[in-house]
Amino acid sequence: MGEINQLKQKIEELKKKLGAVIVAHNYQRPEVQDIADFVGDSLELARRCTQVDAEVIVFCGVHFMAETAAILNPNRSVLLSEARAGCPLADMITADELREWKQKYPEAKVVCYVNSSAEVKAESYICCTSANGVKVVEQVPSQEILFIPDRNLGHYISKKTKKKIILYPGFCIVHNRITVEQVKEAKKLHPEAELLVHPECRPEVVDLASAVLSTSQMIRYAKESPRTSFIIGTEEGVLHRLRKENPDKSFYLITDSQSCVNMKRTTLNTLAETIQFRQNEVRVPEEIRVKAKEAVDRMLAVK
Ligand code: 13P
Ligand code: SF4
Repeated sequence: MGEINQLKQKIEELKKKLGAVIVAHNYQRPEVQDIADFVGDSLELARRCTQVDAEVIVFCGVHFMAETAAILNPNRSVLLSEARAGCPLADMITADELREWKQKYPEAKVVCYVNSSAEVKAESYICCTSANGVKVVEQVPSQEILFIPDRNLGHYISKKTKKKIILYPGFCIVHNRITVEQVKEAKKLHPEAELLVHPECRPEVVDLASAVLSTSQMIRYAKESPRTSFIIGTEEGVLHRLRKENPDKSFYLITDSQSCVNMKRTTLNTLAETIQFRQNEVRVPEEIRVKAKEAVDRMLAVK
């Protein structure tokens, strides 16, 4: 048996022994996605984590995602498959900064992208993801919204609603570095392809796209579309499912630098170690967890 297959078998055995379920984000390495029990976007993963029977959830993704799982599952252990996997966007706002900002806009309600810490969620009215941001904002009982921390997603939402959206200046380094020039170049190379982008891209890039979608929405869109080739404006990990689930279609990235180092920190080795030593447990202090859960639950109630 090859080394990789041995490692996969070891993970399966350890998982059974621990009574764990493995969930993975669409940006994870292909071999990590393939060994997971469930793969999805942030919203699907949060919903899936409300339906877990297993005693332990092993999260292959970044810290805020595992933290959301922990917020929803106070009686289970949530292990992050690699301790250093953070999200620089989530780190762009602290709870103190949010408290200060809220004082400036006392009438506004805070809509918080899930790419944020539990402490920040605890200071927010409701969470949203890239899959449901517009719906969430429309259902918030306020005409004035403080949107944190991603300015590009907030800007995209502001174009789809009449509400007043006040933007916090955070951004994702992976999506924000994609430029209009690069998109035009990619379109020249693949004139037949449809451009699908994530709303974390810059507004001027979003303006050039046929569709603006979360990672799982992109996978569904490509499957359902009669078109056969697509230019993809998000992290490259999404290509694995796009190609696996659409073997007759072609997918191209805009640039060769669409990789999130934090998402790629998880490997089969770090996953095996995490389960074997039951390490990297993500814990949220109870007072913060309860407040953050209100914001997450409000989001999950939005249909
Ligand atoms: P999705 O919720 O669309 O999967 O996106 C998560 C993310 O981190 C985007 O960079
Ligand atoms: Fe965070 Fe961007 Fe990586 Fe998503 S792609 S996890 S937003 S740094």
